[in-house]
Amino acid sequence: MPTHTPMATSSSAISLLKAIETTSAAVGVVGMGYVGFPLACAVDRAGYQTCGFDVDPIKIERLFAGKTYLGHMTDEPFAALAGSDRFSATSNVSDLSVCDVIILCVPTPLGEENEPDLSYVIQSTKSVASILRPGMLIVLESTTWPGTTREVMLPILEGGGLVCGEDFFLAYSPERVNPADAKFETASIPKVVGGIGDDALRLASEFYGRVVCDVVPVASAEIAEASKIVENIYRCVNIALVNELKLAFDKMGIDVWDVIKASATKPFGFQPFWPGPGLGGHCIPIDPFYLSWRARQCGAEARFIELAGEINTSMPSIVVERTCDELGTAAGKSVLVIGVSYKPNVSDIRETPAAPIIEMLQERGCDVSYHDPHCPEFPAMKRHTIDLQSVPLDEANVSAADVVLIVTDHAVIDWSMLGNYAKVVVDTRNAMDGIAATGRIVKA
Ligand SMILES: NC(=O)c1ccc[n+]([C@@H]2O[C@H](COP(=O)([O-])OP(=O)(O)OC[C@H]3O[C@@H](n4cnc5c(N)ncnc54)[C@H](O)[C@@H]3O)[C@@H](O)[C@H]2O)c1
Repeated sequence: MPTHTPMATSSSAISLLKAIETTSAAVGVVGMGYVGFPLACAVDRAGYQTCGFDVDPIKIERLFAGKTYLGHMTDEPFAALAGSDRFSATSNVSDLSVCDVIILCVPTPLGEENEPDLSYVIQSTKSVASILRPGMLIVLESTTWPGTTREVMLPILEGGGLVCGEDFFLAYSPERVNPADAKFETASIPKVVGGIGDDALRLASEFYGRVVCDVVPVASAEIAEASKIVENIYRCVNIALVNELKLAFDKMGIDVWDVIKASATKPFGFQPFWPGPGLGGHCIPIDPFYLSWRARQCGAEARFIELAGEINTSMPSIVVERTCDELGTAAGKSVLVIGVSYKPNVSDIRETPAAPIIEMLQERGCDVSYHDPHCPEFPAMKRHTIDLQSVPLDEANVSAADVVLIVTDHAVIDWSMLGNYAKVVVDTRNAMDGIAATGRIVKA
């Protein structure tokens, strides 16, 4: 438990602190997706009454049934949560009125012009405002620009007349969960916490200290918000760097993967990042633009972010060029794409580079099919319409393809089979490294 956080002072804070310490506080999790579900599991395991609230009725149904809706998770954790007598699920916001701690884990996507879309944060904050009562702690976990908690949420919550820091408490604590990570899960990742005021910091630190392995209290909600964005910018910029290096080394006839493997043997001062077909997911391609937008608003520039975005978003078309180089005349040729989710071993296709790659290949007249054991059908996307279903990964399909294009290197893929039967493999992940092949392997 952090001892360096301030003491609670207001009477509402003192009684809430007691409820948190004795685990008699009831907790509401708003948004039961990739972040909210594992968080609710951790809160339940910590011994708190936990209510999962989501506007998606299908999720609520499945939460009650103990059936998974997150592709990288089995039914097991869902059945465990459904079986807990501390857990309930609801689509009815009034059910949250009994909660003492309410945590918001709703999406923060980009709008049409790459501007932050806070509509989910605003909508869910309004829902919370409708049931807000004295003695509640509200925490935002969604990734967002620094200032959102204070400038966007606070006025909505205070709109009903209750005062932040006296009647209710508001904090920000970024989520760092990495779906399908074999080593870390919500409870084993240290959590940064920043409050609007000392009492909020104290309460949120005490609460999370009972749910996760370690709490890192910081001086303000803005520092906590910024720390999360920096973590994602760090990845975005470094991935862009290796993607650019891949293109430069390729012209020199040098294998970038071999270079990075060699550099990574330095025991300090170097962290390896690997090139790929472009960024995907709900975080790395999106969050950095929250900061560049905010920086522009404040009269500053974030040139690294813009450049990294430019390089990373150009990768799918570079992969398509490399694939078409192998095809000669692209029209009428067949391309079998391996893996369409944005990263290995998950079914999440949000912002996946597979979507623009497939579309561009189709525009050039290629006959595109795909294999992805995690995505049997290509799900509907906002900006892409891909009417395809996963085909089996067998000898017939692999040998029939003019090019097999590896976009996502799921652990279950039989790379040796590709090596045995593919005429040409265009490999964006270095998945064929060390695999014997009868055809050509082209790194892209
Ligand atoms: N997915 C990740 O790996 C990850 C990791 C760290 C942080 N984050 C951040 O966490 C936030 C949530 O991401 P996610 O991946 O869990 O999103 P998600 O889409 O998987 O889940 C969000 C859930 O919120 C629900 N929702 C939307 N509006 C709502 C409302 N008004 N009231 C109640 N529920 C509502 C949706 O139905 C959905 O179930 C985002 O800001 C994201 O950037 C995500």
